[in-house]
Amino acid sequence: MIRRESILRWLKQDDPRLLQRLYARADRVRQANVGSQVHLRALVEISNCCRRQCGYCGLRAGNSAVPRYRMSFEEVLGCAMDAAGRGYGTIVMQSGEDPALDPQQMATLIRRIKSQTSLAVTLSFGERSDEELQLWKDAGADRYLLRFETSDRELFERIHPALPGQCCDRIALLRKLKRMGYETGSGIMVGLPGQSIESIADDLMMFGELDLDMVGIGPFIPHPQTPLGSGRQAMTGVEELTYKAVALTRLVCPEANIPATTALATINGRDGRELALLRGANVLMPNFTPVKYRSLYQIYPDKQACSGDQLRRRIEEIGRCAGSGPGSRRPVAV
Ligand code: 5AD
Repeated sequence: MIRRESILRWLKQDDPRLLQRLYARADRVRQANVGSQVHLRALVEISNCCRRQCGYCGLRAGNSAVPRYRMSFEEVLGCAMDAAGRGYGTIVMQSGEDPALDPQQMATLIRRIKSQTSLAVTLSFGERSDEELQLWKDAGADRYLLRFETSDRELFERIHPALPGQCCDRIALLRKLKRMGYETGSGIMVGLPGQSIESIADDLMMFGELDLDMVGIGPFIPHPQTPLGSGRQAMTGVEELTYKAVALTRLVCPEANIPATTALATINGRDGRELALLRGANVLMPNFTPVKYRSLYQIYPDKQACSGDQLRRRIEEIGRCAGSGPGSRRPVAV
């Protein structure tokens, strides 16, 4: 285990030689716990409609510049069949917090995917009711992703306004997802305006406390059509800080599935993914959204979608291999 003081010291460390030691250690812990496979998840962004007003996100309801779309049942099912045919083990369905997402229709879709393919099904639909989450679990969904973004409550409330008359506690929701039997994923953004290094240390401690199965960490990228979008990145050294957070997360959660995130690949298109994979990460999420919708899922600008074939080649170039099967944290007994 690694203690908070030690995490904080590493997050503040800027001696490149010492950081290489941290990265080498994270790489060894990754190899010992989850091996050399890099699991590929087919990411399908099923709707960009959102009722929230998050200060950081380009899909926020107040952004009238983005044309909205919602994929049909048949379109999503088609993507799932295609992903299964191309050898993926997991489909991740993600959307904005779309009020028109029909829970029963989603349950039917999950059942169809589970009966017609051997895909693991991951959902990432934001903060949903207990009834919906249970319905989808009963329909066969395996995993749920919900980043808590930052454990600094005040910062979170500032950038993620609650819906009128509701309070929002993502940490409590994550605990609930675990109790329901979901493999549970969360994560944070690094470099939010007003975010302290101390709070990032707290975030990492929280990953351990929640015993997360998946942890995604990406740099915050200002989106011009959002309240937090003006000006440049507020914090310097965000890319390096993100690698440090990824490496330390591997030490805090040795068995977790940790993606090299698209946001990291967006700020460093040359080797952001590779560096994350060499510093603790073991998952990639190629974009599987139909091309006609892809440019509309603009959480942040210039999102670097990469195809599975490109990624498979890059995995081999760093001496790793593409994973087979669902790539669960704890393989389920059959
Ligand atoms: N920059 C980087 N990541 C972002 N996300 C949302 N907006 C941004 C942004 N501007 C991340 C959040 C969210 C995930 C789907 O995308 O962490 O949970």
